[in-house]
Amino acid sequence: MAVAPTLHVIASLMIDRVLSVGALPRPGQTVEARSLRTFPGGKGANQAATAARCGAAVRACGRTGADGRFIVDAMRDAGVDVAAVRCDDPVSGAAVVMVADGGENAIVIAPESNRRVTDAEIDRFLSAAVSGDLLLLQNECSGPAHALGTARARGLRAWFNAAPADAALRGLDLTGLDGLFVNETEAEALTGLTDPAAALDALAARLPGTTVVVTLGAAGARMRSGGALSTHAGYRVRAVDTVGCGDAFVGAFLAALAAGLPPEASLAWGNAAGALAATCEGAMPSLPPRASVAALAALPAGSVPA
Ligand code: RIB
Repeated sequence: MAVAPTLHVIASLMIDRVLSVGALPRPGQTVEARSLRTFPGGKGANQAATAARCGAAVRACGRTGADGRFIVDAMRDAGVDVAAVRCDDPVSGAAVVMVADGGENAIVIAPESNRRVTDAEIDRFLSAAVSGDLLLLQNECSGPAHALGTARARGLRAWFNAAPADAALRGLDLTGLDGLFVNETEAEALTGLTDPAAALDALAARLPGTTVVVTLGAAGARMRSGGALSTHAGYRVRAVDTVGCGDAFVGAFLAALAAGLPPEASLAWGNAAGALAATCEGAMPSLPPRASVAALAALPAGSVPA
């Protein structure tokens, strides 16, 4: 029997300071939060933890400070191999996350330690990867261009979550990617197109051979893979906190792919994990386990979880 590929994640780690508010503040407005809580987070850490919870063999590298050790502990508890994550940076990456009634959020990140992951560290980390393994990157860490070059040279199947969309994103050479995950904002940043369906088609035309997935929040996701279009309308849940839903999508999608499921089934896994993550507070604490994701993904799009 073929051995499932390992998922190697160059992971951003953030200390999430989560403010619960009635409504997100307008520019110039001061609002009082109902609560302030601290959670482990960071897109890469969340994605790695979801993939491991969904059954994939996951290794991560990354960098935080001594006060970020609890993020590494949470990743380890989820089943991620964290031997290559360092906790020696003077300033940990952190995020201020505002969550409004109804689950809508706004996030400001200070990447700090995440921008000090070196090319040498990435190469050392990827020297343990074998051809056919999966690599996952987000745009919150240093070195995506270097990591993509190393992935190409080593025959790794590289997936990039182009989040967050920043000025550097448009300059990044994305050729040779196995897969690209974007939300509507990131799709617009990469194409200039506000219609996510048109942006997906433009990205797929620009990157032949790359599976492109556009996530649409509660409306599910659209994907182009090998020229074929797949759509999935998502699952119906009462959203409490949408922070980390995109990360849950990415982690579960890649865990399904690593387990040998076709991209269309992986789309259902991504949507199932994203929907379940919206029903609980916090990013990493809300990441669902494999059994719940598999059970929901087996239901038709639009279903309500049991
Ligand atoms: O995607 C959610 C994550 O984005 C949060 O955990 C926060 O750390 C930011 O990086």
